[in-house]
Amino acid sequence: MPAVIVAGGQFGDEGKGKIVAYLALHDRPKIVARAGVGPNAGHTVIFRGKKFGLRQVPSGFVHEGARMLIGPGVLVNPEVVLEEIEETGVGDRLGIDRRCAVIEAQHIEQDRTSEHLKGKIGSTGTGCGPANVARVSRVAKLADDIPTLRRFLADVPREVDDALHRDELVLIEGSQGFGLSLVHGTYPYVTSKDTSASTLAADVGVGPTRIEEVMLVFKAYVSRVGAGPFATEMPPEEAEELGIVEYGTVTGRRRRIGTFDFELAKRAAMINGATQIVITCLDRLFKGCSGMRSFSQLPPDARAFVERIEEELGVPVTLISTGENIEDAIDLRTEKL
Ligand code: IMP
Ligand code: MG
Repeated sequence: MPAVIVAGGQFGDEGKGKIVAYLALHDRPKIVARAGVGPNAGHTVIFRGKKFGLRQVPSGFVHEGARMLIGPGVLVNPEVVLEEIEETGVGDRLGIDRRCAVIEAQHIEQDRTSEHLKGKIGSTGTGCGPANVARVSRVAKLADDIPTLRRFLADVPREVDDALHRDELVLIEGSQGFGLSLVHGTYPYVTSKDTSASTLAADVGVGPTRIEEVMLVFKAYVSRVGAGPFATEMPPEEAEELGIVEYGTVTGRRRRIGTFDFELAKRAAMINGATQIVITCLDRLFKGCSGMRSFSQLPPDARAFVERIEEELGVPVTLISTGENIEDAIDLRTEKL
């Protein structure tokens, strides 16, 4: 069994949380490992009527047979992770790598008061950038140094490797999105690390030869929180007319909205080495898609849109989300286009 990466193809908030929850319930991985920057990301999962906005605990928690891991590349805020462990009840099956660098109060303070980070870049103010600076400067604390995290400490790369040797499925949950990558995104309006699949693998300590699938997630339109170039952005009134008004999970800021950016998507597919494309929020863009679970039920304009994405990217669309609930999905791995 392989390691599968779920990565964001736009500016984050593509709906990775719901997709990882769906895959966890249907593909039944033995491990779901969170990758990405840290608690600047908010992954939304609606499970048993409750809405979770997860910033540290993997969205795969909905599958009780899976171990939840946080890779050594990911920044951890002890308060946030402990709160989420409590909220999701995953305490006895969650592991935090000893080498995760820790976000301290001073990092959050720096992030929130910096004219450059908060004012110009529009950082989430969660301390991630300054904590990564501390890490690069070799002065950061690690999870190993934090007594309240002791009972959760783990060797994540070792656990993942053991699972892969046992032929078990490992799902790697990326965060943020391609356009926010420090390396490939719209610098300087980016997050503090690369966000592409290669780095997501490195975040959990999996070598590139062990990755079998990269599922790249795109929303049917584009959203962006914070400052920075946005080629296909539309005026907020136009988005309102379409009925698309979104607010950030972590920051509560209103998201900027635009149409699907094929050029961005093609580059994201190339650099992520995407083997499968996932499209989310199709129901918000096209009437008559809400809750649909079969491709043939979709209206013709929605079907044509999905087919165009597949054609232009040259990568098969394998999963389509048609609503907030985990089961609102069209799984084209079992149903042909
Ligand atoms: P930082 O990562 O908090 O420093 O924020 C830098 C930029 O990345 C800002 O524009 C944020 O809004 C954006 N950003 C960081 N993480 C996410 C995310 O998970 N979703 C959406 N935007 C994000
Ligand atoms: Mg989010």
